[in-house]
Amino acid sequence: MDKIGNSKPITQTHWLNLYSNMRFDIISAVPDLLHGLLGYSIPKRACDKGLAEIHIHNLHEYGIGKYKQIDDYPFGGGAGMVLMPEPLCNVIEKLKSEREYKHIIYLTPDGKTLDQPMANRLSLGGNLILICGHYKGIDQRVRDLYVDLEVSLGDFVLSGGEIAAAALVDSIVRLLPGVLGDEESALSDSFQDNLLAPPLYTRPSVFRDLSVPEVLTSGDHPKVAKWRHEQAMERTLKLRPDLLEGTED
Ligand code: ADE
Repeated sequence: MDKIGNSKPITQTHWLNLYSNMRFDIISAVPDLLHGLLGYSIPKRACDKGLAEIHIHNLHEYGIGKYKQIDDYPFGGGAGMVLMPEPLCNVIEKLKSEREYKHIIYLTPDGKTLDQPMANRLSLGGNLILICGHYKGIDQRVRDLYVDLEVSLGDFVLSGGEIAAAALVDSIVRLLPGVLGDEESALSDSFQDNLLAPPLYTRPSVFRDLSVPEVLTSGDHPKVAKWRHEQAMERTLKLRPDLLEGTED
């Protein structure tokens, strides 16, 4: 089992987060993929600050017999291999005997599509176990016995659940209080108010004859905020009008 980042004492608390820090246990047959995806940037920062713990469990270590088998052919025939129930249940049962978990999540195209409200809800706290399928998927009995939330990245099939697990963890840890600084607050992210983000500009103020909108260099903060809101509305209406359905303004 491997862990991302160095754990330091928790220095920040927040009324919304009912738990001291959030622990993610990810079960995977390709753990290196997760080290690559979660060992940098904001997830690593969250772990280094002691606000999150990300533990990656190599399913091969729980394999059965001399060859540490983790998968087998599907009953009834068909292409592809299925992750066997025993190695998965052994990891899950070990973890559950050590602490409480809020959800046991299976990443699968069958699941509920990941969106900002889901990330917001999960960021309120509670440890999570994430199961990454590989090859064809996992034995149904693991889902029946333990999984209480199934999450999809969208209507397409990935080679495994690792990319989806990393996306889910990343979308949650950036919301944990103290992970982002005020100036990069997650409250200004796209989707937090059902709006896409406004356009962004940095230096130089003129690039290939294209100038930054004047208002952004005016120093007039209320005017900048108004402009950004208008741009966000315009962009959302044009690109994702569905987000505005059912909202008041
Ligand atoms: N595993 C394979 N495809 C997936 C998807 N679209 N979402 C989540 N997990 C997956």
